[in-house]
Amino acid sequence: MKQKIWIDCDPGIDDAVAITLAVACGEELELLGISTVAGNQTVDRVTENARKLTSFLGISQVPVAKGASGPLVRTPKFAGHVHGKTGLGDYCLPETDKQVEEEPAVLVLARTLKALPPGEKVTLVPIGPLTNIALLLRVFPEAADRIERICLMGGAAVGGNVTPTGEFNIWADPEAAQIVFTWGLPVVMCGLDVTNHCGFTREQAKDLKKSKHPVSQMVGELVEFYFQSPVYQGRERAAIHDAVTITYLLHPDWFTGRAMHVEVDCSEERNRGMTICDFRGKPGEEHPVTVLLQARADRVQEFWMEKLRAFP
Ligand code: BDR
Ligand code: CA
Repeated sequence: MKQKIWIDCDPGIDDAVAITLAVACGEELELLGISTVAGNQTVDRVTENARKLTSFLGISQVPVAKGASGPLVRTPKFAGHVHGKTGLGDYCLPETDKQVEEEPAVLVLARTLKALPPGEKVTLVPIGPLTNIALLLRVFPEAADRIERICLMGGAAVGGNVTPTGEFNIWADPEAAQIVFTWGLPVVMCGLDVTNHCGFTREQAKDLKKSKHPVSQMVGELVEFYFQSPVYQGRERAAIHDAVTITYLLHPDWFTGRAMHVEVDCSEERNRGMTICDFRGKPGEEHPVTVLLQARADRVQEFWMEKLRAFP
């Protein structure tokens, strides 16, 4: 049986690669829908990217729903310095007549979960700020019964990428993240501890760009843009953070992690947005959040190249 998934995203270069990878793994994953959230760029820009991307990838039947235009409490902050003005670097996806759902994302997702056949559940894959997921849980708490688990990209047991302790997705909406981490649902946290090690080299980006398949070419161009950003100057590898979630769903054995209690710093102090991972758990204690700590980065990289080169 295929794993049913729903991707909540802010495309975003690595979001686009994650969605592409999910489609490339269509024999194992059934993508039920995509929702968007303000994050890397405005919600209008990232929704436009998601809309065009579904057509480009040949999955225009998958619904795209527009979500929150900003975090629960503060004003939105974007990441144009990494993902460019459009959110997808310089890459121009072709025009399409694919329509975005009329209803807001939270409603579309709640309806989709409610309409599942009895006993079936969905894995949510949030790869942007957690605003939509927190709203879903708050507005439709019964939706939690239909969620198998939440496999998210965000946070870190150690360090940050926007501030010394803040990872972008969590830092962008800490209050939403706190709701999601403490709801009691099973959560897999694919944070910087693993995602920073999983990426493409410049050579691999060039290789993909040279490929004959337009989808691999797109990924190559997107990753090349990453290398131009100040974040990756002088670095050997560009981390494709969001694609780690999809990889984990298919190959959990390539990762080691630990179940622990996680909370988010929602203060107005310098650690705002930090994921506070409590390593002190006692044997026998149960925690619904699994924090991934190590990855077989070599296997992950090979897997991505193999799947993207053989895009259907
Ligand atoms: C996360 O932040 C965004 O810029 C990326 O798309 C990813 O989801 C990495 O910190
Ligand atoms: Ca993202």
